[in-house]
Amino acid sequence: MLSPASKTKDHQTMNSRFIISLALFLFLNFLRNYSHTTEAAPTYLQNDCPDTTLFAPNSTYRSNLNALLPSLSSAAIDNADGFANATAGKDSPNRAYGLFLCRGDVGTTMCSECVATGAKDILRRCPNKRSSVIWYDECMLRYSDQPVYSVMETVPIYNMPDTGDVAEADRFVQLLGEAMNYAAERASGSKSGKKFAVVEASFTSSQKLYALAQCTSDLKGWDCNTCLRAVIADLPQGKRGGRSFTPTCTVRFELFPFYNTSVVAAAPLLPSSPPAPANGPKGKSNKSTVIIIAVAIPLGVAVLLFFVACFWHRSKPTTTYEVVQEEGGTTEITTIESLQYHLATIQAATNNFSHRNKLGEGGFGVVFQGKLPNGQEIAVKKLSKSSGQGVGEFKNEVALVAKLQHRNLVRLLGFCLKGEEKLLVYEFVPNKSLDYFLFDPNKRRQLDWSKRSKIISGVARGMLYLHEDSRFRIIHRDLKPSNVLLDSDMNPKISDFGMARIFGVDQTQASTNNIVGTFGYLSPEYAMRGQISTKSDVYSFGVLILEIISGKKNSSFFQSDGGENLASYAWKHWRAGTPLEVLDPLISNAYSIDEVVRCLNIGLLGVQQDPADRPSMASIVLMLSSRSVRLPQPRQPAFFLQRSMETQLNELVSDQSTSIPMPWSTNEMSITEVYPR
Ligand SMILES: *[C@@H]1O[C@H](CO)[C@@H](O)[C@H](O)[C@H]1NC(C)=O
Ligand SMILES: *[C@@H]1O[C@H](CO)[C@@H](O)[C@H](O)[C@H]1NC(C)=O
Repeated sequence: MLSPASKTKDHQTMNSRFIISLALFLFLNFLRNYSHTTEAAPTYLQNDCPDTTLFAPNSTYRSNLNALLPSLSSAAIDNADGFANATAGKDSPNRAYGLFLCRGDVGTTMCSECVATGAKDILRRCPNKRSSVIWYDECMLRYSDQPVYSVMETVPIYNMPDTGDVAEADRFVQLLGEAMNYAAERASGSKSGKKFAVVEASFTSSQKLYALAQCTSDLKGWDCNTCLRAVIADLPQGKRGGRSFTPTCTVRFELFPFYNTSVVAAAPLLPSSPPAPANGPKGKSNKSTVIIIAVAIPLGVAVLLFFVACFWHRSKPTTTYEVVQEEGGTTEITTIESLQYHLATIQAATNNFSHRNKLGEGGFGVVFQGKLPNGQEIAVKKLSKSSGQGVGEFKNEVALVAKLQHRNLVRLLGFCLKGEEKLLVYEFVPNKSLDYFLFDPNKRRQLDWSKRSKIISGVARGMLYLHEDSRFRIIHRDLKPSNVLLDSDMNPKISDFGMARIFGVDQTQASTNNIVGTFGYLSPEYAMRGQISTKSDVYSFGVLILEIISGKKNSSFFQSDGGENLASYAWKHWRAGTPLEVLDPLISNAYSIDEVVRCLNIGLLGVQQDPADRPSMASIVLMLSSRSVRLPQPRQPAFFLQRSMETQLNELVSDQSTSIPMPWSTNEMSITEVYPR
């Protein structure tokens, strides 16, 4: 501390003393603030222990855990970061890794109490499991036999809705989306310390929306953002409140303050008017002003740190260097390498790309089924060689797309490069694709209404995740039934997303000459002028919904004459007040008329001519999950094909079930195939 000062330093020492007392005073005040919250016991939420691996009660792993858990408890005492990790044991199979995270606004006393409770509870709730996570309202704690430090996880994901629907749900979801996005941005953008942010926004004159986002402090900003996007996409919609969390991040919103608002100071920000509801009737926009208030660091801590920093600076004027590891540095490279598979491995897995292993052929290449030596089933896509992408770019894009993880997306596991050969390795999804069921009169019977409705909302959630990931928004460009795979429970998983990136087509360019997509699912502005946006995906989604409801293939209309397409067929019945005529006659038993009509309504909104008239995926997810949301009436849908073009396309598109990348010059409308099939 302070050494006896020379006369010349007296002044400075006094200053320092004053600052110390002030800092102490503030610190004590700060502690007092917390004393209210320390009385209650932590509130248990959830625990997760995959039931695969066990350890014997007298094993080395158990004794390592016995050392690990108390060390986490003691690391939580007086821990201002609200986060710590620990390891116990030396050799890999028996080594135990663990960490805890306290909610950003929770005080040190409550934090250590919560961690201590968790450390006791976790083994009781999940006896003898080699890995486990436990969540409380105030903290979370986990251990594993695999390293967990700075490993982002979006699985498992839990959501907990509040009971009670929200009034004015469509305006609410808009506001919630903005608040959550902002909180996610703030939390993941935080350069050091806690990755935590809360945002407040006024919903009505008397009601405020409170939103919170937090990642474990060890995550990189990038990973934190990816994780938060996944939990945000999973939030319960149409409810007054709810939360969603994974082992590495959490979000929550309520119409009441659920965190300690006195700890998080108010910094007014973004006084903005909300964008007019995307789905609202034109001219009737909501004028209420939104003031979003955001806070990343508790004020008390900030003030304290400020004074400590001043004092530190005065008494010890040595320069300190902060080592900041940049994203894209060495760690990123190891990540990319870890995604790379050897060609020999893939050859062995697919019986050297044997014909028997062939699953299908799409616009980007042939797909093979395979099995890795560890038993994992995979699907390998052998890309057609004409991609102009350099190796480095290719790897980067693959690494980026591999980070997109959501239960309604087919997971990209990695890639393989050998000379000209470029392969993408995906998780294997057992039940083929939606078109396999939907467009086969016998198999279609298996898709009762509840399955179809589950598929519609699953695809919507997956698309929302692709669209709302602000760091690199993905526009699918080729959403259609053959790109919706089904797992063993008939849950949908979207495939082939991010291909435009991997193939080096410019995403950011609003207008592009390279149109990738499948005739029948392309929005008019994309097909005609090459304009892409999330709304062109919404168009494809609209067509998809109409196909799922009707069991009719959009393209089946093109062969028949009369200039009708699926959208205009559905529209005719909608206008005539006979919407149920559109429903697949094979759906005979249980279905909710209301649900079918809502889905049809949403499908028709999706295929509107003007992109601005199409709802966003966020609105669609809400419309699907909450009956209290009033749906706008659709107008006459897009019908854009000129006869001559239609004929040309019919000739080109001989097999509707394969994806056809269609690059054509925007001026001349002449069609040439660039990628070999
Ligand atoms: C653990 O206990 C079981 C029976 O309870 C015994 O068979 C086994 O040898 C023990 N293992 C060790 C490492 O002590
Ligand atoms: C936390 O994890 C990091 C990375 O694995 C490790 O280097 C560090 O030693 C861990 N801390 C403790 C206290 O075990």
